Amino acid sequence: MRTIEELNRYCLQYGFFYPTAEIYKTAPSGFWEYGPLGTLLKQKFLQMAMKELVRKDEMILIDGSQILPRDVFLASGHLNFFTDPLCSCNNCGSIFRADKLIEEQAGIPVPERTPPQEIIRLLQNVKCPSCNGELGNLRLFNMMFKTTVGVNGDEVYLRPETAQNIYISFPRLYVYARRKLPLPVAQIGKSFRNEISPRQSLLRLREFTQLEVEVFYNPKTVNDIEKYKKVKDKRIPLYINNQRIMLSCEEAVEQGYISNWLQAYYLTLIYEFYIKLNIPPEKIRFRELSDDEKAFYARRAWDLEVEMSMGWIELVACNDRGDYDLTAHMKVSGEEMYVPDNTSRLVPHVFELSMGVDRSILSLLDLNLIKENERTVLRLHPALAPITVAVFPLIKNDMLVRMAKDIYELLRLDFDAFYDDSGSIGRRYRRQDIIGTPYCITIDFDTLKNQTVTIRDRDTMEQNRVETSQIKKYLIERLGIYQF
Ligand code: GAP
Repeated sequence: MRTIEELNRYCLQYGFFYPTAEIYKTAPSGFWEYGPLGTLLKQKFLQMAMKELVRKDEMILIDGSQILPRDVFLASGHLNFFTDPLCSCNNCGSIFRADKLIEEQAGIPVPERTPPQEIIRLLQNVKCPSCNGELGNLRLFNMMFKTTVGVNGDEVYLRPETAQNIYISFPRLYVYARRKLPLPVAQIGKSFRNEISPRQSLLRLREFTQLEVEVFYNPKTVNDIEKYKKVKDKRIPLYINNQRIMLSCEEAVEQGYISNWLQAYYLTLIYEFYIKLNIPPEKIRFRELSDDEKAFYARRAWDLEVEMSMGWIELVACNDRGDYDLTAHMKVSGEEMYVPDNTSRLVPHVFELSMGVDRSILSLLDLNLIKENERTVLRLHPALAPITVAVFPLIKNDMLVRMAKDIYELLRLDFDAFYDDSGSIGRRYRRQDIIGTPYCITIDFDTLKNQTVTIRDRDTMEQNRVETSQIKKYLIERLGIYQF
């Protein structure tokens, strides 16, 4: 089994990502940057999400500000409830997350929103992991980054989820979408959380990318909408009583594991997206969160989890937020959020898909990096591979090099292409295999005679002879609609 450290070493070595400001000893943890290959992978991941989620479901897309005024988070509840309990050692002063320490050391679960008095009582069961001293001084630590704006120093916050931009724009978006419900709105952007213990590279960051979909709906019509009913017979993996079970959406709704057709439809949409990315279906499951685990705004919540080398990891939070957010913003801002739908007026409810983009990318790297007999290969979906096509002259012969460079020139504006003439051809193939390049073109002496090249497939290692005039067509056919 691969460890996260081994995966990180690979990602650092090949330039997928690395710690921010790593040349400075003062750099805080929890910030990572995408390098050349990681940036291409992330871009292609988002392009695929645009097709398979946003365009597929006819969502509208916005791009909001990352800094928002205090009132937004007063209304949303993040000012009061987006906190973790901290304690410190009376002897050495070290600071810890109290709930995690109690769970790890004493084996006592500490649910979300446990009252501080109870945490103080439970702290008597644990000691400081550094010096064995007594623990105390419990305080609630808000995970939002606070800053100020303008000369008056008005209090503002970096958003801890992208969702809030969508809620506060609802009146405009509703008009834009011709006053129709259900209304799915997507946003891709950065979120910021002052995590107490950021770790495991892209798994727990302080600055990360989310793709969030907020679906505004009328709870009275969730089961009447035609497109939702189309998923009736589709099967999705639910984690029930410690078992992963495939249930049709109809069974899941009838048996109450999912509340309605709208939820079934969106859970299916996100499940099928991860399958499109080539994540094996048996490594995906939906786990419903208990009341102790749910966020303060959620009525019902499922995590889409993927089984990575380090266990099942949450990639997407799927939350039924009811009318919590719009009602809260209506109260604090005074802006009307009631809309007419059918015969009634209502504050729309929200079902949310909240995807961690960085975690998803880490899962793709982990699940696709395969050690075979004599090679290591990153078997990414061809459309996700950072480099789509590499071009090599068979040997460093002037005519072959010239021809190979011409072909590279022909391709590089339409595809992420890479030219390489150093080392043996076998080593050049291996170097592309390990970073996931799906196609390698080799120019040999036959190319000079009959204008054909070989195109090697990363996964089968088979080589096809293709006319130079047909190379683009060959690649486009294989990348299908996903040609970036
Ligand atoms: N709007 C709801 C929301 O933000 P969440 O469960 O807090 O829900 C959603 O976050 C997703 O964002 C998670 O499933 C995870 O993939 C990602 N995520 C959350 N915190 C993260 C962090 N500190 N680092 C990286 N990804 C994170």
